[in-house]
Amino acid sequence: RPMDINIELPDEQAAQKIKIGIYFATWWALNVVFNIYNKKVLNAFPYPWLTSTLSLACGSLMMMISWATRVADAPKTDFEFWKTLFPVAVAHTIGHVAATVSMSKVAVSFTHIIKSGEPAFSVLVSRFLLGETFPVPVYLSLAPIIGGCALAAVTELNFNMTGFMGAMISNLAFVFRNIFSKKGMKGNSVSGMNYYACLSILSLLILTPFAIAMEGPQMWAAGWQNALAQIGPNFVWWVAAQSIFYHLYNQVSYMSLDQISPLTFSIGNTMKRISVIVSSIIIFHTPVQPVNALGAAIAILGTFLYSQAKQ
Ligand code: 3PG
Repeated sequence: RPMDINIELPDEQAAQKIKIGIYFATWWALNVVFNIYNKKVLNAFPYPWLTSTLSLACGSLMMMISWATRVADAPKTDFEFWKTLFPVAVAHTIGHVAATVSMSKVAVSFTHIIKSGEPAFSVLVSRFLLGETFPVPVYLSLAPIIGGCALAAVTELNFNMTGFMGAMISNLAFVFRNIFSKKGMKGNSVSGMNYYACLSILSLLILTPFAIAMEGPQMWAAGWQNALAQIGPNFVWWVAAQSIFYHLYNQVSYMSLDQISPLTFSIGNTMKRISVIVSSIIIFHTPVQPVNALGAAIAILGTFLYSQAKQ
């Protein structure tokens, strides 16, 4: 056989497109709901280390119950699998907690504007740490991404250094997570859904001791009482919603990563940020100045130019 030819019938192609479209729409919708409830919780209960731990714990529990009750088939894993997963989990943990710390300090929209700069981090890491080179247009597309993020940051009304740095650290960590998980998912038989479940479980084990060290049960108990007094019993539902939706959006995003290239994934991720930025500004009445919005728009336009240049 001279070469492998992958022949797909037009019907199959159309079905695949519809399937990916449904994945994307579900991913964005779940992510918007997560971001809203996460911020509602953080406003009343400013303990991002605990809320990020709870999101991972909830997802881990949901998956372990699904495996035990055979709603989902448990993956067959060996030591090698968990060893390869470890760096992915470290990066996932850092990226998750850093983003949550960021959102506890600044508007959700600001965190996601900075996070729309993730492709720039991806290019810089690939260039300087992995020695990969790119065509000139790819480097040029970094100018609007970095410039737009910078403009949005300096004109942000409620700028906070921890909030800014948290989003930047999250960008860096998620670039590593994506590089490692692409390697880890390739050639193994674990599905995207189960891969993300294992990632949650391992991240939970890594994060728990740090969450206790950074915040700890005493602060949590006092904060919890306070939030309950302020919000009432609904607060518990908000915590449940942020945790469940966090797991679901990530699970769907890993299920779609199974089907598409990392490039298509990152375009989908940027479009997701637009829906989060717009809906959180509306729901939380976030004040935005025209220059601030211009910065965000330039950064997002840069991401689209980047994806064009990479294609
Ligand atoms: C988190 O809490 O992990 C962040 O909100 C994740 O951000 P992302 O999945 O939108 O990159």
